[in-house]
Amino acid sequence: MTDRPKILLTRRWPEEVEAHLGERYAVTLRDPDVPMSRAELQQAMRDHDALCPTVTDLIDADILDVEGRRVRFIGNYGVGFAHIDTAACRALGIRVSNTPDILTDATANVAITLMLMASRRAGEGERLLRGGQWDGWAPTQLIGSDLEGRLLGIIGFGRIGQAVAAKARAAFGMRIAFHARRQPDDVGDADYFADLDALVAAADVLSIHVPGGAGTHHLLDHRRLTLMKPGAILINTARGTIVDEAALAEALRDGRIAAAGLDVYEREPMIEPGLVALENVVLLPHLGSATRDTRIAMGMRVARNLDAYFDGRVPPDHVA
Ligand code: DGY
Repeated sequence: MTDRPKILLTRRWPEEVEAHLGERYAVTLRDPDVPMSRAELQQAMRDHDALCPTVTDLIDADILDVEGRRVRFIGNYGVGFAHIDTAACRALGIRVSNTPDILTDATANVAITLMLMASRRAGEGERLLRGGQWDGWAPTQLIGSDLEGRLLGIIGFGRIGQAVAAKARAAFGMRIAFHARRQPDDVGDADYFADLDALVAAADVLSIHVPGGAGTHHLLDHRRLTLMKPGAILINTARGTIVDEAALAEALRDGRIAAAGLDVYEREPMIEPGLVALENVVLLPHLGSATRDTRIAMGMRVARNLDAYFDGRVPPDHVA
C-alpha cells in the first residue's frame, strides 16, 4: 500500500490514536519523543503529505516555504495554533485544522485548580511539608483567601472562558464579569466590560482565555498589571506570551498583587527565573488538556480532519 498518504506526528500521541491513524495512513512516528529541530521539520515537509504538529513546533514561513515541499495539510494537535503561520499557509495553499471543543472542560478545570491553589496557598503548603519544615497546625499559618462571592474577571469569553465562568459560579458562587472583543448575545448573569482596563481594575481573580499571537502579545503588560487590586490573583491557562512575565514577577515580588497561577509561559519550557524564586505563584507545566480522555479525543479529532482532507472535503475544524 505505497499510495497511502504519508503523515508525520511530531510527538508521540496516545497509542490508540496512533493505531487508528495507522489503519489509513503511512504514519511516521518519532523516537525518541523530543521536539523536532528546524532542519528536521523542513525535511518532514518534503517527505510527507500532512504534518501533525503540537504547540512545541514553531511552524513559520521558512518551514512552510521549504523547497520541494510536499505537505498540503497541517492537522494541529491542540486548539491553540499561534505557533503556525496561518497567513503563510493560506498564501501557499496549505490547509490547517485544530482541535476545538474537546479540551474545554479539562482546561477550565486547570484554571479552577490554579485559582484554588493560589488562593489557598497549596503549593507553598506542599513545599513546606515536603521540605520537612512543618511543625504542625497553627492558627495563623498559611492564611489564604476565599473565592466565595468574589468577582471573577474573564478576559476572552469563548468556550473555555464560559466554562470557567460556569464552574466558578456553580462551585463558589463567584460573580462573573468578562471582556471580549464583541459582546456575545447571551451572557447569562455575567457583566460585560467593553473596557479591559476597567475589568482588570475590578476583578478579585482575573483569568485569561484569549488566543496567543501578535494581537494579544503582552496584553497584560506592566501598565495593566499595576491596575490590578492589591489582593487580586492572576490565572493564565491560555498562552504565556499574553502576560509580560518579568513585569508579573515584579508585581508579585513587591506584593502589588497577591498571587498568580500559571500553566503557560512566554518561552516554554524556560521559566522566568524571577517567578521560580517566588512563593506566591503556582507554576504548572502546561497540562491544561492533559487527561487521558482529552488527549485521545484530540488525536481522534485530528484524524477526523485528516480524513476529511484526504477524502476531498473541507476539514471540519479548518482554521486556514
Ligand atoms: C492547546 O490545545 O492549545 C494546548 O495548549 C496544547 O497545545
